[in-house]
Amino acid sequence: MPRPLIAGNWKMNGLKGTVAEFARMMEGYDRTMKARVDLLICPPATLLATLPVVALGSRIAIGAQDCHAKASGAHTGDISAEMIADTGATAVIVGHSERRADHGETDATVRAKAEAARRAGLIAIVCVGETEAERRAGLELDVVRTQLAGSIPDNATGAELVVAYEPVWAIGTGLIPTMDDIAVMHATIRAELVARFGAEGESMRLLYGGSVKPDNAVAILGVPNVDGALVGGASLQAATFLDIARAYC
Ligand code: 13P
Repeated sequence: MPRPLIAGNWKMNGLKGTVAEFARMMEGYDRTMKARVDLLICPPATLLATLPVVALGSRIAIGAQDCHAKASGAHTGDISAEMIADTGATAVIVGHSERRADHGETDATVRAKAEAARRAGLIAIVCVGETEAERRAGLELDVVRTQLAGSIPDNATGAELVVAYEPVWAIGTGLIPTMDDIAVMHATIRAELVARFGAEGESMRLLYGGSVKPDNAVAILGVPNVDGALVGGASLQAATFLDIARAYC
């Protein structure tokens, strides 16, 4: 089984003062946890220049929440994967459902961003997941298969690519799929990745995201083919984020 990863997506939250909360995460990431689980925090871009420096020596990795596909150029307001790597960050989330919905990102956009991440030496966390209407129509497996096929670059490897399954209806709602539904989806994702990438597909980490909290983490993280979590709201506080990671200890 791949080494587990608990990733925090801070979304549009966090000011300079939030660095103190991050410092509490560093303090709480003890030797037992370090032996069992990787931690990653993805702050807003405004903190990307700060957190990788604060995190030095802590073994908590820092990532961005998005990148542009190009390395540089006339793209006002965007940041490139190379710029992210330049801060000391080592990962980037691409294709989060909020970006797909708010910014019209297609599978092709997401794939170009994942390719940019590889070009810059960053781990890409590629997000997929169905809407409530798609699940009600029984289309969730087809939707996710299509997103995987379109969003993941050829020749992806387990060292540089992570998949996050985040059902849109479970994000920020307190709702989660049944453990059986998560198991079916993650087995399907694994099968797709193995069919396309062979042994590399076996080693890719598959995260579940959507209302992961300390009280459901043990159950969710115990589902086969769940190699960690992508945590939104509960990653903003050191105590809850570390409690989720402690499910592995
Ligand atoms: P919540 O954990 O707040 O539901 O957010 C999940 C998410 O979107 C992480 O990327």
